[in-house]
Amino acid sequence: VLIKELIEKKRDGLELTFDEIHFIVDGVTRQTIPDYQISAWLMASLCSGMTEAETAALTEHMLNSGRRLKRCTDRLRVDKHSTGGLGDKTSLILAPLLACLELDVPMLSGRGLGITGGTLDKMEAYPGYRCDLSEAEIESQLRKIGCVITGTTANVAPADKRLYAIRDVTGTVPSVGLITGSIMSKKLAESLDALVLDVKWGSGAFMKSIIEARELESSLVRTGRRMGVITTSLLTDMNQPLGRMVGNACEANEAVDIMKGSGPADAVEVTLALGAELLLSTNRESCPEKARQAIASLLQNGQALHRYQEMIEAQSGRFSEVLPIERSTVVESKNSGWVVSLDGARLGNIVIAMGGGRRSQQDAVNPGVGLEMLVRIGDRVENGQPLLHLFFDGAQPEIDALRDLAREAVGIGPSQKPGPALIVESA
Ligand code: URA
Repeated sequence: VLIKELIEKKRDGLELTFDEIHFIVDGVTRQTIPDYQISAWLMASLCSGMTEAETAALTEHMLNSGRRLKRCTDRLRVDKHSTGGLGDKTSLILAPLLACLELDVPMLSGRGLGITGGTLDKMEAYPGYRCDLSEAEIESQLRKIGCVITGTTANVAPADKRLYAIRDVTGTVPSVGLITGSIMSKKLAESLDALVLDVKWGSGAFMKSIIEARELESSLVRTGRRMGVITTSLLTDMNQPLGRMVGNACEANEAVDIMKGSGPADAVEVTLALGAELLLSTNRESCPEKARQAIASLLQNGQALHRYQEMIEAQSGRFSEVLPIERSTVVESKNSGWVVSLDGARLGNIVIAMGGGRRSQQDAVNPGVGLEMLVRIGDRVENGQPLLHLFFDGAQPEIDALRDLAREAVGIGPSQKPGPALIVESA
C-alpha cells in the first residue's frame, strides 16, 4: 500500500479498512511515514469524518502500538476520565477515594494544554511529586496503596504521542474519531475492568455545544464497551468553572477542602455522581443513593484525604508544605444586574497569560497562579461587588489589562437566567 493512496481515499470520503488503518498507525509508531503525510491523513479524517469501524480500528491499533499495564492485584481496576475543563479537580479526589473502597486506580493522566487544566500539573503543585513512574513502580504502588496518578509511560500508546503532537500544531485536535482513539487507547492500556467518563460541554470545554459533546460521549462509550471494558458516562456542564478555584495549587487546595468534607457544592456533586457511577457499574452497590453515601462518607471521615497524602508521599511529593498562592487582586463589577454567562475560554486564557498554563507542551507552569470565582451564573451582583480574585506572580506587568479581561469574561444582564443543569444525562 502507498500512504498517498490512503490519504486520497480518506480525502474522497471513503472508509479505510482495519488493515489500512493498521498500516498508518504502524508507520506512525515506527516513524516510516513522515509528518507531512500524517498531517494530510489527519486533516482528511477530520474533514471527512470517521466511521464507527474506523474509530474502533484506530483505537485498537493505537492501543497495540505499545504495552498495557499488567494486572498485579486481584482487586477490580477502575478509572475516571474527564474530557477536560476549567477547575475540574475531581480526579485528585476520586483516585484515593476509590482506592479506599478496595478498587485499584491506575490513573495515567495528562498535562494541561489550551485552556483546560491537566491533572499532572495539579499534582506537581506538591513540591517533589513525581509523574514519571515506571511500570514497575506503578505496579508496586498499586499493590501497596491502590492508586497512582502519573503520566503515561513511554511504552503506553506511543502512536498517540506522535499523533497528538502533530494534531496539536495542525488544527486537527477536534475530531470525534481522533479524540476517541487518543483517549481510549491510553485508558484501555490501563487494563481496566470499568471506566466512567465525564464528558464536558460548554464555554470552558473542548465541545462547546451539547450536541457535539453527546456525539463524543457516545463514541467514547461505544469504543470502551466494544473493547470489553464496562464503560458509562456523565455529560456535565462546563459553562462555568467547576468549584470556585482554577489554577494548579488553587485546585489542589480545593480538592483537599472537599476531602475534608467541605468545598463547593457543584464540585462535590460531580465527584459523588462519578464515584457512584463506578460503584454501580461494577456492582459494588445496587442502589444509587447508597453508592453516593459510600462516597460521601469517605470525604466526611477523612479516609480519602489520608489515602491522598499516602499517594503523594509515595510519589515523593511533600504534602505538608503549604502550596504557594501568590499575590492576589480583586476584580470588581462595573455594573449591577444578574450573571448570565461566564466566558470559560477567556478565563482559561487569563490563567495562561499569568503563567499558570501552557501555550506549548514545553512551557513551564507556575503552580501558584490561578483565580477564584466569587459569582456563578444566576447570581445577583451590584456595582463594585467583587467578581473574582486573580492570584498572580509578583512580576506581572499586564495585570491591569488582565483584570479588565477578567471583568469582561463575566456577562451581566438585566434579568436572572438560571445556570445550565450541572449533570445532564448518563448513558
Ligand atoms: N485528550 C487526549 O488525550 N486526547 C485528545 O485527543 C483530546 C483530549
